[in-house]
Amino acid sequence: MGVTDRGPGNNGGMSVPAPLADPHLVYDPVAGDGPKDVVILGATGSIGTQAVDLVLRNPDRFRVTGLSANGGRVALLAEQARRLRVRTVAVAREDVVPALREALAAEYGTSEPLPEILAGPDAATRLAASDCHTVLNGITGSIGLAPTLAALEAGRTLALANKESLIVGGPLVKALAKPGQIIPVDSEHAALFQSLTAGTRADVRKLVVTASGGPFRGRTRAELAHVTVQDALAHPTWSMGPVITINSATLVNKGLEVIEAHLLYDIPFSRIEVVVHPQSYVHSMVEFTDGSTLAQATPPDMRGPIAIGLGWPQRVPDAAPAFDWSTASTWEFFPLDNEAFPSVNLARHVGELAGTAPAVFNAANEECVEAFRAGALPFNGIMETVTRVVEEHGTPATGTSLTVSDVLEAETWARARAQELTAQTAEARA
Ligand SMILES: NC(=O)c1ccc[n+]([C@@H]2O[C@H](COP(=O)([O-])OP(=O)(O)OC[C@H]3O[C@@H](n4cnc5c(N)ncnc54)[C@H](OP(=O)(O)O)[C@@H]3O)[C@@H](O)[C@H]2O)c1
Repeated sequence: MGVTDRGPGNNGGMSVPAPLADPHLVYDPVAGDGPKDVVILGATGSIGTQAVDLVLRNPDRFRVTGLSANGGRVALLAEQARRLRVRTVAVAREDVVPALREALAAEYGTSEPLPEILAGPDAATRLAASDCHTVLNGITGSIGLAPTLAALEAGRTLALANKESLIVGGPLVKALAKPGQIIPVDSEHAALFQSLTAGTRADVRKLVVTASGGPFRGRTRAELAHVTVQDALAHPTWSMGPVITINSATLVNKGLEVIEAHLLYDIPFSRIEVVVHPQSYVHSMVEFTDGSTLAQATPPDMRGPIAIGLGWPQRVPDAAPAFDWSTASTWEFFPLDNEAFPSVNLARHVGELAGTAPAVFNAANEECVEAFRAGALPFNGIMETVTRVVEEHGTPATGTSLTVSDVLEAETWARARAQELTAQTAEARA
């Protein structure tokens, strides 16, 4: 195992501790020339299926040893397992094991041994600690925390799409991660990661996180009162799983990303800006102290950031399509409307509070998104309810002594409180 400093002078000559994600440092748990052994968690989701596509197109670079999912799409999981010839398949739902075994038998036929099956709520966590080079965490929601911690503890490189695990367990992740061990997969953070290679840490003035603005860009708060689930799921530029798509409509996703950027790059919230860029071509930018801004741009396609997560420090040729500069295009940038979309400021607030506050924010939001999708909460009710839960939680104990049980306890409370408030709203509307 080795950590290599690729320079330019990470800390600009100052004795500043390295941030969680640092493109100048290469963490290589298994130095070698062959394909990297990769575990994909959340294999059947939006991130997972795109990662599978990338791996199948690059067998000389990557070999998948394990796949995990919740268990909702066993036929797809079995097909992925057969195409990738994996060692292990993990499902959180034990009740789907017979169906998974059947689907695997149908895929493999009788001539080949079937992969090992892990099942149960900790199946992804056990798989995350298994023998491999890189774990891609593409699970949705804060349930991804335990696998994130397990991968770090086992010394794997962590390609992190599951931003929630970092947000709810920031200090826990920080305590475990070695320099360079986390490579961000969220497109904005992968963009910051790449742009940060252009200077030293001391040269960075601010991070500029771009937001498409979601399907409701330009609407006032009053106009958002009656939007439907279908409206919220119609993202203008990205095709993603349902939770992150709703989070993009409320801009909670952008709020989570501001916290994620703060935790990954150790930049104060006051130096992280959000700008609306409807085309989603520029995925984020770094402004340096000399006034230069470095931006990373591609047509919106998550296979680019996934390739950074799996391949870094190498680039994967043809990971995703590039721009066609022979046709005209318009790139626009607008300030964020914090009144219609209060989620980013609330996220900054919980990020500053630290401790269990981000976990409460995220858990309350996950419950409210569920309630909105079920028709029990209006769109604006999501942020109203989350704000109330955050306020009731108050000022948490500070971050450094945070434990996993603190996080789980805070989450359980926030989910229960959000459900109570949601039920009251539903009753009042009936
Ligand atoms: N999609 C994007 O473009 C994108 C971009 C940036 C960041 N992200 C982040 O990436 C993560 C995944 O997002 P997504 O859009 O890919 O979500 P998604 O399409 O909803 O997929 C979620 C995946 O997680 C699996 N899963 C759910 N609960 C699980 C559990 N308890 N144990 C193991 N696997 C479980 C699901 O399995 P089943 O299929 O069996 O339900 C599915 O494979 C999120 O944190 C999101 O914020 C996504």
